[in-house]
Amino acid sequence: MSPSTLETVVTPRDQAKSGSRTMGRQKINRIGVLTGGGDCPGLNAVIRAVTKTAVFQHDLEVLGIEDGYMGLIRNRMHPLSTGAVSNILTRGGTILGTSNKANPSHFAVGVDAQGKPIFKDVTDRVIEHVQSRGLDAIICIGGDGTMTGAARLAEHGIRCVGVPKTIDNDLMHTELTFGFQTAVDTATEALDRIHTTASSHHRVMIVELMGRNAGWLTLHSGLSSGADVILIPEIPYDIEMVCEHCLRRGRHGKSFTIIAVSEGARPKDGQQVVNSVIADSPDPIRLGGISRVLRQQIEEITGLECRETILGHVQRGGTPVPADRILGTLFGYKALELVLAEQFNQLVVVQNNTITSVPIDTVAGQQRMVPMDNPLIAAARAVGTSFGDQEVKMR
Ligand code: F6P
Repeated sequence: MSPSTLETVVTPRDQAKSGSRTMGRQKINRIGVLTGGGDCPGLNAVIRAVTKTAVFQHDLEVLGIEDGYMGLIRNRMHPLSTGAVSNILTRGGTILGTSNKANPSHFAVGVDAQGKPIFKDVTDRVIEHVQSRGLDAIICIGGDGTMTGAARLAEHGIRCVGVPKTIDNDLMHTELTFGFQTAVDTATEALDRIHTTASSHHRVMIVELMGRNAGWLTLHSGLSSGADVILIPEIPYDIEMVCEHCLRRGRHGKSFTIIAVSEGARPKDGQQVVNSVIADSPDPIRLGGISRVLRQQIEEITGLECRETILGHVQRGGTPVPADRILGTLFGYKALELVLAEQFNQLVVVQNNTITSVPIDTVAGQQRMVPMDNPLIAAARAVGTSFGDQEVKMR
């Protein structure tokens, strides 16, 4: 899919309302925008599109809410002028800041005698701040945690529109999230660099990618860099198969092997590797470290020399690729259209190469996994890539 060919769907209702600032009985005068959860390239493109469209086309006021839901809880927000969003299209991260520890309905307000966080529902505080700031609607840019939060705020009468971001590309009901294509680009470059050192030293090089429980990032980056083994959470691997593929490659004159592994990959009948548990985060598990486990096992079983590299947050940083700048701009524009069309509690999504929307609560708490009939899996298998689950023929 090329985002540059994406079309936005403007419904007759959108058209009737577009350009209007009147929303039922309440006029839209001021909107808030926030970025929640992990950052990713393209967030600033959305903030810019929302702000410029709101101010230039509809004469609205925009407040930037700081650090995601933390800004709503602590009443930290500031006006966004068009000047404030100038020159941010190409910048990574988010000018508003973000937080993945600020869920209004489950917020850590302190610790108990054992040092365990005490959680409290602080939604009332959020409602008070939304009202005192005169926010008529909020555009929430984030992943499933942020959308779950938006769906809860919507139940309390706060009018939200969601915009999906994540390098994991695992949000339900959207074929694409911005940030993903930049992360694929970054990870592919890293894998390409690993390739040259792997071939020089005749080693097995294991590269661990992010993605939580979904293998999209590893599948795309692995395929685009020609990784010899791709391990993703959706296809539990057999370590013996992985080792046999490394050895088989050696027998066929290939002196090195590149393994791209998702942080969420796991062996058949085995568990994912948890790196840490962030107690005061609504989504506390942080995966990571599978590449170290693989290194030890492969060295022990095959006797081949291995090295591991964990790409980590490098995948989330830096300048967005053009496709993510375009997608972010289209998403921001569409989000504002939804606000003006009174289509609240909707999430902007890409479906059938078209930008449209779905109810926010239909994505809350879910993850979109790689389906087994995804054509990338068949194509990768066809060119001799191992997924660690079956024998690969080599001639
Ligand atoms: O969801 C995006 C993501 O980068 C995941 O791929 C990764 O597992 C997680 O966030 C890391 O979170 P944190 O930034 O809290 O370490």
